[in-house]
Amino acid sequence: MTDYRRGFESLRQELHEPALPVSGQLPDWLSGTLIRNGPAQFEVGDQDYNHWFDGHAMLHAFRVGEGAVAYRNRFVASKSRQEALEQGEIARSEFATDPCRSIFGRVMSLFTPAPTDNASINVARLDNAYVALTETPLPVRFDPETLETVGAVAFEDEVDVDTSTAHPHVEPDTGRLLSYAASFGRPSVYKILEGSSEERARTVMARLEVDRPRYMHSFGMTERYVVLSEWPLVVNPLDLLLRGEPFIENFEWQPERGTRFRVVRKRDGAEVATCHAEAAFGFHHVNAFERGEEVVCDVVTYPDASIIDDLYLDRLRSDAPTPGTGHLRRYRLPLAGGTATSTRQSDERLELPRIHEGRATGRPYQYVYGVGTQNVGDFTDQIVKLEVETGAAATWQEAGTYPGEPVFVPHPDGTDEDAGVLLSVVLDPTAEQSFLLVLDAASLEERARAPVPHAIPFGFHGQFFGGAGA
Ligand code: CO
Repeated sequence: MTDYRRGFESLRQELHEPALPVSGQLPDWLSGTLIRNGPAQFEVGDQDYNHWFDGHAMLHAFRVGEGAVAYRNRFVASKSRQEALEQGEIARSEFATDPCRSIFGRVMSLFTPAPTDNASINVARLDNAYVALTETPLPVRFDPETLETVGAVAFEDEVDVDTSTAHPHVEPDTGRLLSYAASFGRPSVYKILEGSSEERARTVMARLEVDRPRYMHSFGMTERYVVLSEWPLVVNPLDLLLRGEPFIENFEWQPERGTRFRVVRKRDGAEVATCHAEAAFGFHHVNAFERGEEVVCDVVTYPDASIIDDLYLDRLRSDAPTPGTGHLRRYRLPLAGGTATSTRQSDERLELPRIHEGRATGRPYQYVYGVGTQNVGDFTDQIVKLEVETGAAATWQEAGTYPGEPVFVPHPDGTDEDAGVLLSVVLDPTAEQSFLLVLDAASLEERARAPVPHAIPFGFHGQFFGGAGA
């Protein structure tokens, strides 16, 4: 397979390469480890997982410093993976895959639900713990040096939730960690959680009861508020318990409900505004900030939720694939509530958006970086930088290669918001390998690249952990 579809084939090899070949010049100030997460095994025995989000999580670490790059990759030893390998078949319910169960097993599963701990979406550092995250509230701790799995984080609190975002926010000034979670039942409840680590118990900062919960992959945060964007992808919570379908297949697209934004004040957890907009769907909030009497909320959106269907593996491996990218949409949410207006900020396609987090989060900002699509039908074939106010775009592209999420790392002495580099893992199917690409974030010119001896399947999110920590 010499096109993008190589990125949806399994990688089983685990490697440690102390020194990758490096071409170009790594910035001398760049020191730390990029740790990325994504699925790497899409079948067990003769059973296939259904969806890109379902494959077994694998971590990839690129340690950069003193002009050299070391690489290591390792599967997350989740219970979901271990049970599947032991049994020779899919063992736990994933986002869009259910194990084959006997009738007895299905009945039993109502009483002993085993949500997946296949933490394939993101990574984070919670206090001193490095964790892999997915959308069940079961972060898996790992050793940042060896990538060995330590085990599930045992929360020491009474917080009871069924799902949790893989995109927590860190307040730039306080370091406080905020997360979105949901519990399904009567009533179902959205919860904003504060803190989550072995050392620190989580507390519920806000709770919003909801009759028909919506699927939300991420949320927005300004200096004073958090924003929940309720796309009209809706679930009857009883269906989650009773229908026995994979998680996401219980959700229904009900565009007549429109999109509802819930603006919640961090100080006291009060919902201060509820705003309505036309139906749309999005995975990723880019950023949000306060401006006068409104909250500006930037999201990568799609006209509807069919993007979730487009990311089933049979579709991705077909001859009619998805671009895999949406568009930057800016919502203006009046703090008095009511109708939210929105505009598409750019015609350039975008996904897996990243910003200068330490500086831009929750504040007015200039730039977003992400993957894009130049040739529709060629999946994500370029890196995009957008000026969020004007929509002006710059791109990096190399024919026949497929970049992943570009992680922005700021120059330690930088003054401009784009002073720094972007780190992206790029798939080169023809060469049967991937490479770490280092781009100057201001110019999108290549600074360096370091090829890995194997092709890395398309992943989701990663973080750069600076200094000696990893
Ligand atoms: Co995500």
